Amino acid sequence: MRMEPKIGKHFTLAVLAFLGLAVGAHAGMGQLKEVFKWKQVDFKLADEAARTAAIKSGEFKQANNLPLGIEVWEDKVFITVPRWKSGVISTLNYVKKNSGESPLLIPYPDLETNSVSQAPYDTKIVNTFRVRADECDRLWVMDAGLNNILEDPQLLSPPKLLIFDLKTDKLLRTFPLQAGDIKEDSFFANIVVDVDKNKCDEAFGYMPDLGSYGLVVYDWKNNETYRVKHHYFHFDPLAGNYHIGGVNFQWTDGLFGIALGPRGDDGFRTMYFHPLSSTREFAVSTKIIQNKTIASDSYYQYRVLGSRGPDTQATSSFLDLPSGVIFYTQVNRDGVGCWNSKKHENEYSADTNGLVSSDNQTMIFPNDLKVDRDSNLWVLTDRLPNFIYKHLDENEINYRVLSAPVSSLIKGTVCE
Ligand SMILES: *[C@@H]1O[C@H](CO)[C@@H](O)[C@H](O)[C@H]1NC(C)=O
Ligand SMILES: *[C@@H]1O[C@H](CO)[C@@H](O)[C@H](O)[C@H]1NC(C)=O
Ligand SMILES: *[C@@H]1O[C@H](CO)[C@@H](O)[C@H](O)[C@H]1NC(C)=O
Repeated sequence: MRMEPKIGKHFTLAVLAFLGLAVGAHAGMGQLKEVFKWKQVDFKLADEAARTAAIKSGEFKQANNLPLGIEVWEDKVFITVPRWKSGVISTLNYVKKNSGESPLLIPYPDLETNSVSQAPYDTKIVNTFRVRADECDRLWVMDAGLNNILEDPQLLSPPKLLIFDLKTDKLLRTFPLQAGDIKEDSFFANIVVDVDKNKCDEAFGYMPDLGSYGLVVYDWKNNETYRVKHHYFHFDPLAGNYHIGGVNFQWTDGLFGIALGPRGDDGFRTMYFHPLSSTREFAVSTKIIQNKTIASDSYYQYRVLGSRGPDTQATSSFLDLPSGVIFYTQVNRDGVGCWNSKKHENEYSADTNGLVSSDNQTMIFPNDLKVDRDSNLWVLTDRLPNFIYKHLDENEINYRVLSAPVSSLIKGTVCE
């Protein structure tokens, strides 16, 4: 976690800009439209008195509220605000799609469920980074359980899943991860759900453990979890150096992004995955992942697809089923990358991966992305390294939500 002057960034960006043009990406540059932007986020609370009281008690410190995760369901855009520091009044929130350019965040399902001022915490959302709305209109919330990570970390609850009914906003289930799921440095910041619309009981939740290099699987039908391990869940020691927004730092994060392909004839899907500190992509069938007796004991069933090339570390990824294109954040390149899993099924390289959008002002640290049911890509950018290691200038736009139709983003790129 050292800070050093940036080295070679201009050179790298120049090369990337050139590569972008080489694959015809000028059509893709700047295609993403700003839907929301904030210098600082604020929340919709009961009234001004409640807001004043929350500031006075320290429950709300505006500068410590950094949006991170995104999900889109009907007219709601969910936005998580992790509890990195104190004063995050609500960690799970939403805004309506058409609510202006800098809307107030609305606590979901309510402020009380997001409050960490008083135990018990078993049905509270302590600290969420990412959420997923599934095909059965349920919202799966991955709660890391750890409050105030950077200032005074306290494990208020074990990492847990909370699953809400999006139609009624009622809590359907909570599942605390079990002793065997959690290792010493475990950290759960992402959740991917594997379910079909007409088989809502046969759902699986995949929870990457970026800190201890594993995958925890939740089986909805049996209401149980188990832990999966594989070498490919680990970080690459040669890919842990980052230069982002003028900040240089090193991270050791393992398994992070997971994207699911279409269901095959055997009823299973390809799970594409990558560690964060890595430039490689891997794949395995969910037939292996969903079978707890063999998931950790099937070394050769996990495949190396290939490398995207230098500086291509990615957090989240998502596969758009109609086009077969996987989108992934490009944190070291201030942009979003793509790879067409249909067109280039067996060719995964720097040549078959494209950069659909990049901007060293408006896209500093693309943190999360999703494709909605109408094939629009949504991206949240938030300058996280500056927030963690330096500081954010509250007079600048620090946080953005960007969106564009998949078809227009990939047009003229290697992913079309
Ligand atoms: C699922 O298991 C968890 C952990 O044992 C338990 O707390 C919960 O009540 C169970 N839920 C259901 C629906 O069985
Ligand atoms: C898990 O895999 C084993 C070995 O291939 C197989 O015998 C078993 O039936 C599988 N279990 C399920 C639930 O599919
Ligand atoms: C941002 O990109 C522009 C255009 O590609 C370039 O001229 C500028 O030097 C870059 N700025 C930084 C800080 O990298």
